[in-house]
Amino acid sequence: MNDPQRHEATSAPLPDMASKIARIDSLCAAARILPVIRIEREADILPLADALAAGGLRTLEVTLRSDLGLQAIAELRKARPELCVGAGTVLDESMLADAVAAGAEFIVTPGCTQALLEAGIACPVPLLPGVSSASEIMLGYALGYRRFKLFPAELAGGIAALKAFRGPFGTVRFCPTGGLNPGNLRNYMQQPNVMCVGGSWMLEDAWVRSGDWQRITQAGSEALQLLA
Ligand code: 3PG
Repeated sequence: MNDPQRHEATSAPLPDMASKIARIDSLCAAARILPVIRIEREADILPLADALAAGGLRTLEVTLRSDLGLQAIAELRKARPELCVGAGTVLDESMLADAVAAGAEFIVTPGCTQALLEAGIACPVPLLPGVSSASEIMLGYALGYRRFKLFPAELAGGIAALKAFRGPFGTVRFCPTGGLNPGNLRNYMQQPNVMCVGGSWMLEDAWVRSGDWQRITQAGSEALQLLA
């Protein structure tokens, strides 16, 4: 992996948690919807991102679920600097380091471990840890985290869980992801402790496989209209 980004990242002063929270808030406010992307073919990287951007989705979570994830992040940072590109499905500290080196502007994880949360503090870009329970929120809260991905949102209690978390965790906000779709995303977004919503419903496998970029643009744009 090319090293200049890593050098730049490690030589710059490390942002504190308050500035990382502010950065997440501004990213999420601008995005409203965070598409969760899995790249299967190299040739899809730019057209897929362009299709989402044309529909208004310009903040992208590119997952490291495929071998092309890191390459896609690096390529998008270079070729589409107007987009905001983060890494998803970051499972451990080594994937976190790789994602930052590839140029990820933010990191999303499906769950949290103590080691990953600590690595997130020492990371130059904000980490949005995945949680599905009060105990996991408390693990992150103890280290200063106040913004989380609720995953898998529908299975973890959905809207009812978000309402319940508002009591004990008044300063915490979430990006619910997992099971969201055009039928429920508006209701999620209306929760006061939701900062944005995430998912892959606008990127159906069949559309990506057949290169139906128009359909993806339309699905993204319709989803944003639902939140307008
Ligand atoms: C994720 O990792 O965030 C999920 O795969 C996205 O969930 P969805 O596919 O149900 O939208």
